Amino acid sequence: SVIRAGSYTDELLKTAKSIASPGRGILAIDESNATCGKSQLQMERSSWTVCKMRILYPGIKVDKGLVPLPGSNNESWCQGLDGLASRSAEYYKQGARFAKWRTVVSIPCGPSALAVKEAAWGLARYAAISQDNGLVPIVEPEILLDGDHPIERTLEVAERVWAEVFYYLAENNVVFEGILLKPSMVTPGAEHKEKASPETIAKYTLTMLKRRVPPSVPGIMFLSGGQSEAEATLNLNAMNQSPNPWHVSFSYARALQNTVLKTWQGRPENIEAAQKALLVRAKANSLAQLGKYSA
Ligand code: 13P
Repeated sequence: SVIRAGSYTDELLKTAKSIASPGRGILAIDESNATCGKSQLQMERSSWTVCKMRILYPGIKVDKGLVPLPGSNNESWCQGLDGLASRSAEYYKQGARFAKWRTVVSIPCGPSALAVKEAAWGLARYAAISQDNGLVPIVEPEILLDGDHPIERTLEVAERVWAEVFYYLAENNVVFEGILLKPSMVTPGAEHKEKASPETIAKYTLTMLKRRVPPSVPGIMFLSGGQSEAEATLNLNAMNQSPNPWHVSFSYARALQNTVLKTWQGRPENIEAAQKALLVRAKANSLAQLGKYSA
């Protein structure tokens, strides 16, 4: 299967391993215009000036968004495979070294077997195409936090989703050493009556990963998915209290940006304070990646 990724294999392995190295994570600033609006885009550009000295590898979102999945239970599928090879080749030329494709799975909507299969197949096709063009694919089936279900139900769904994702990744001859995962943490649904502690979330999430993710995968870069900044950091820290087979880290958007955006408020005079706020969150999550964060 290593032959599948062609001339880029060595570089893919090196890129994935460098991103997944001690203390490092990803600042996700790839929201669509509809999600973040013009003002956030401006802030993100100025955050980039703060961050670029430290960026090892730029990455790019390559999916074309979610649309309704006919025949499902009001679920969606992720577009973007058409033309992906030529777009990816162009992104590589422009300097990108990793890619992201976000699809979602909804627990309250089922999830239906059709939606899970479509999500897994799309991710696997995207991953193979990315590797063929020198981009390390971030594989992200986001299991949405919505719902009032207990943590056991999230575990059950996550196990099902990741089983299918790895089945199709293997079927598409994706090189596991040259991918990164972006899972949701295993938590109770956002509307569940009880909150779970960071230790419980770490225990369930690591159980899921150990059952489903081969140790050849170098990095697990969690999304924050609507958790508060503090929760996302504490949960990550709890997962790094004992050794893992992988580099367990973050690829947060909201949990790195919420305070930044509140501080900034669209005013030029607040930019410096907002940049400082970004560095505070980045540092906290870097420590959490090392298991050394204390509130
Ligand atoms: P959140 O951390 O806000 O969930 O976003 C991460 C991300 O990039 C989702 O694709």
